[in-house]
Amino acid sequence: MQAGKNDPATIREYMNSDLDAVVGIANRSLTEYYGVELIQDLAVQWPDGFLVYDVLGTLVGFVVGTKYSPTEGRILLLAVKDEFRRRGIGGTLLREFMEVCKLNGIMSVRLEVRTDNREAIRFYKDYSFSVISTLKRYYTDSSDAYVMWRML
Ligand code: ACO
Repeated sequence: MQAGKNDPATIREYMNSDLDAVVGIANRSLTEYYGVELIQDLAVQWPDGFLVYDVLGTLVGFVVGTKYSPTEGRILLLAVKDEFRRRGIGGTLLREFMEVCKLNGIMSVRLEVRTDNREAIRFYKDYSFSVISTLKRYYTDSSDAYVMWRML
């Protein structure tokens, strides 16, 4: 899977050798703590749904999801390294994840996002996700989450 014409970047499935880079990006970008074991568990749950964005051998972003039900996908984590944001990388990962979902017979995708994460909410709205409910005290610091959802 090439990221774009003349672009030395690739989207590919996660490999074990990506572990440190994924843990690093997750913990610099997201407010919850994500340990090595959790990422390893996610990698075996649904390997098709764990994609990384690689630029000349450097991992700069990733998305990992699961099947919430046989027909619904769920994005668990999506993050892009700070200095690589607003270049379309998050969008490319999201679109590719949704393609993988469609190939697996999935008809809709959901996710949870902190209600104060304006950048991510804006990003998902741009990709036609809508807020469908609020989960009170969802995160370990007691912050609330929005559930966002879209049909594929
Ligand atoms: N402010 C406003 N709009 C934004 C922003 C922002 N900071 N970031 C993205 N968008 C919108 C814009 O419309 C943008 O298009 P434009 O740049 O042409 O205006 C569009 O989303 C697509 O942006 P991308 O460049 O594809 O997105 P990016 O590579 O920057 O990744 C992401 C977006 C993943 C949300 C990134 O900001 C990030 O890693 N944030 C920290 C981690 C995070 O919060 N992840 C989501 C948590 S929820 C979950 O994982 C289920």
